Amino acid sequence: MQACLRFPTTPSNSNEAHFNIPRPCQHLGVGHGGEVSALEIRKETRTQPNGRPGNPAEGELRPVGECPVQHGLEVLGQIPEGLSGVYLRNGGNPMFQPANGHHLFDGDGMIHAVKLGFGNRASYSCRFTRTSRLEQEAALGRHVFPKPIGELHGHLGLARLALFYARAGIGLVDQARGAGVANAGLVYFNGRLLAMSEDDLPYHVAIRSDGDLQTIGRFNFNGQIEGSMIAHPKVDPATGDLHSLSYNVLKKPYLRYFKIDKWGRKSRDIPISLPQPTMIHDFAITENHVVVRITRSTRRAIVPGMNLEAGQVNRRRLGWKTQYAYMAIAEPWPKCSGFAKVDLVTGQVTKFLYGNERFGGEPCFVPSMAGDVDEDEGYVMGFVRDERRERSELLIVKASSMEQVALVRLPSRVPYGFHGTFVSSQDLSEQGQTMFIRPVESHSNLLGVDPYAGGTQLPCMLAGWPN
Ligand SMILES: [Fe+2]
Repeated sequence: MQACLRFPTTPSNSNEAHFNIPRPCQHLGVGHGGEVSALEIRKETRTQPNGRPGNPAEGELRPVGECPVQHGLEVLGQIPEGLSGVYLRNGGNPMFQPANGHHLFDGDGMIHAVKLGFGNRASYSCRFTRTSRLEQEAALGRHVFPKPIGELHGHLGLARLALFYARAGIGLVDQARGAGVANAGLVYFNGRLLAMSEDDLPYHVAIRSDGDLQTIGRFNFNGQIEGSMIAHPKVDPATGDLHSLSYNVLKKPYLRYFKIDKWGRKSRDIPISLPQPTMIHDFAITENHVVVRITRSTRRAIVPGMNLEAGQVNRRRLGWKTQYAYMAIAEPWPKCSGFAKVDLVTGQVTKFLYGNERFGGEPCFVPSMAGDVDEDEGYVMGFVRDERRERSELLIVKASSMEQVALVRLPSRVPYGFHGTFVSSQDLSEQGQTMFIRPVESHSNLLGVDPYAGGTQLPCMLAGWPN
């Protein structure tokens, strides 16, 4: 069953605050572009990319410390001239070593950023998104907020929740300032990069001119949104509008749709009538409709015999029928050994495999910004981990030929993560016009350790974590 909505046009301030438990199953789920997202939704799994359930403290998923911007990275090949901007990828990276109940999806949001420029220049940085939850826990020096996926189960989960509310009752923590980890999605809208998880408002993260990142704060669209917003809003390339959903598992309306126009004005909410609460991770837009799947998906393989997972289409054609989708090849599951360019018209599949013991995640398609060009004119990029050589890289592949054009060697490990996006230099120039960025001194490490002291191979500076 799908609910189709026509886009509303009347601005309104109708909102409500609520606390959602994020849905774990689809951080790595499929497609956030038009036709693709309705085709295939993977069922919930607790298995992680390192093949171990539950604890991400080991292997390639173990968290990393922040890395201040590192310039002059080694580049093999040639970064295309038209590819100027910043690739950003979100992921969960717990600041404090978890107890037994931690799950990958509970990790604190960390964004890894690679800035690409003229003359084959590349730089890298990674930063925690300073969520309210992270800052409160950093101030207390320990993990306090319950981890919704890993901890809130059974009697022990109830006990943890009760303990949290007791602490909140005496003012030790403040949930009203937000409890989300902002670790799943990223969208660039109206001159702002927004980091999102579906259990909270987005967080505005500034991309500094030197390629570093800086959390500006929890962003409620200038007071127009009070509750949560899902992690996969859609920017309509035709209108510039941002379409989104908000769900509430506690009270009606269980699901609401709204949009923000390109001037930042929110529409009225449209409640979607549901008989019972449900969690919505993603949805699709067409030229005139919003398509929301509100019942169990009937899984349908895009390519029979292949396990294709998270992917993207050309975002300049979001809302329109697209010919190509770029999907992670989740083989051997749960690792991604490459990505596939799928021709949705002919069924032709072109694979790009990362090689022996090399794995990645969601491919990010960066469309050409030239005028009237073919849909597959652009580049596919993403982080790749060479597990044998213990190296992390950013790979850039020309989409039309599916040939690698550049590889950027990164100065420190990038754990496997969730969704990414690319913000062009042109888009970045709007950013400076819409906000004030605080000086870098305010960006010191949360735990009082100088993040600039560690050179290119920073030790893990997080409480309780082994280096
Ligand atoms: Fe997702």
